[in-house]
Amino acid sequence: MGRRHIRAYKELQDAGAATARIVGVCDLRRDAAELAAKETEELTGWRPLVFSDPVEAVNLPDIGALDVTTDPATHHVVAIPALELGKHALVEKPLGVTVRACRAMVDAADRSGAILATAENYRRDPANRLAKGVIDAGLLGEPFLMIHNIIGGDDRIRITPWRHRKESGAIGLDLAAHFADIVQYYLGPFDQVYGQGLIVEPIRRRRDLPDSFPDEVEATGEDSLVAMWRMRSGALVQFVCIDGGRGNRPNRERDFQRCVLGREGSLHAPIDRSGSTVVLRRNERETRGPDILPLISSGFRLNEITERLFGRDIVEYDLPNESIDAKLLAIEIHDFAEAIMSGREPEVDGRLGMSAVAAILGSYESGLAGRSLTMDEIVSSEVDAYQAGIDEKLGLR
Ligand SMILES: NC(=O)c1ccc[n+]([C@@H]2O[C@H](COP(=O)([O-])OP(=O)(O)OC[C@H]3O[C@@H](n4cnc5c(N)ncnc54)[C@H](O)[C@@H]3O)[C@@H](O)[C@H]2O)c1
Repeated sequence: MGRRHIRAYKELQDAGAATARIVGVCDLRRDAAELAAKETEELTGWRPLVFSDPVEAVNLPDIGALDVTTDPATHHVVAIPALELGKHALVEKPLGVTVRACRAMVDAADRSGAILATAENYRRDPANRLAKGVIDAGLLGEPFLMIHNIIGGDDRIRITPWRHRKESGAIGLDLAAHFADIVQYYLGPFDQVYGQGLIVEPIRRRRDLPDSFPDEVEATGEDSLVAMWRMRSGALVQFVCIDGGRGNRPNRERDFQRCVLGREGSLHAPIDRSGSTVVLRRNERETRGPDILPLISSGFRLNEITERLFGRDIVEYDLPNESIDAKLLAIEIHDFAEAIMSGREPEVDGRLGMSAVAAILGSYESGLAGRSLTMDEIVSSEVDAYQAGIDEKLGLR
């Protein structure tokens, strides 16, 4: 992911919007850090310093902020020493591996006044900006239900073995954190959580991944969850995220559904980073993509950096995956840098990163507790049976 972030800095540079420069790169694995430095130089023309100890990097006066792209169980370990020194941190999703890990980062930022942002790229997609515009303009009336399903998978190891281990932030959390953020982006804060985590695939296999991967990984962490959430607005959310089983459509395509229902209409959003069409249905009439824009009476504009990267009023696109990825990451990095320079909050701050994690892990906690839980119970760690062992191992409890 760090290498994908480097391409985003290059994207900002090419767009004449470079507000941050990669001064140093750090990885515990020196070879990975060297590779990142080489790629940074090739792409941006600037060779960064190379570190294999994040504390050493953080202490360098030239470094004002950290862009943390390590695996989730290490986010707080890397970010907190920086935040304590008053250095700002943009931390990849899921913000932390447990609610306590998230809370420790939020508290460190509060103490020093440094900015903590969560790197959430999906909501920056123009389709999600349009969907949010439709909801905020009242075109659906008051939303009463959101259905968010992503269903499909297989028994392959998902990118890295850590994505199947409970203590390192398994794929259920890793994937669903994006979608929980979309839910809170569309509908506002979570209020109550009911659900259950599942391990659909107990053994993950290497299949076509590189030989350096183990042949098999025994899954100890959830790859899936089924939940019902109630938002503070009163809206209900049916949320299903399944990353296993063999019931896929041909070409391993997942079933995806993201829709919001209000009494006046319904909104149907495409899967993130696809460039596909947002559909609005009202009074038996269907309006699609850019045709929705004139219906937003208060007007609809993407923000300046999104317009610069995608174009004015572009709410559908047909671009290579690498380019889409770099643009969306560039928007989140630009927001973080602007927040630092102007002293405003970043769009997705530490608390929003924490609430997305709390919605997912709270669903697992609810399954163990056998009842619905309030967000307060989850965010305060009053209910933490699922997370307690992880927190103990990480020294957070
Ligand atoms: N937003 C997205 O679309 C998206 C996509 C993929 C991954 N991610 C997120 O990015 C993060 C990284 O995922 P990944 O797949 O690149 O993981 P990875 O395991 O491939 O890479 C993590 C790297 O961090 C290094 N590292 C670990 N601890 C460190 C420490 N204390 N100091 C310095 N380096 C350390 C490791 O050596 C490794 O090179 C995760 O939080 C993941 O959820 C986000």
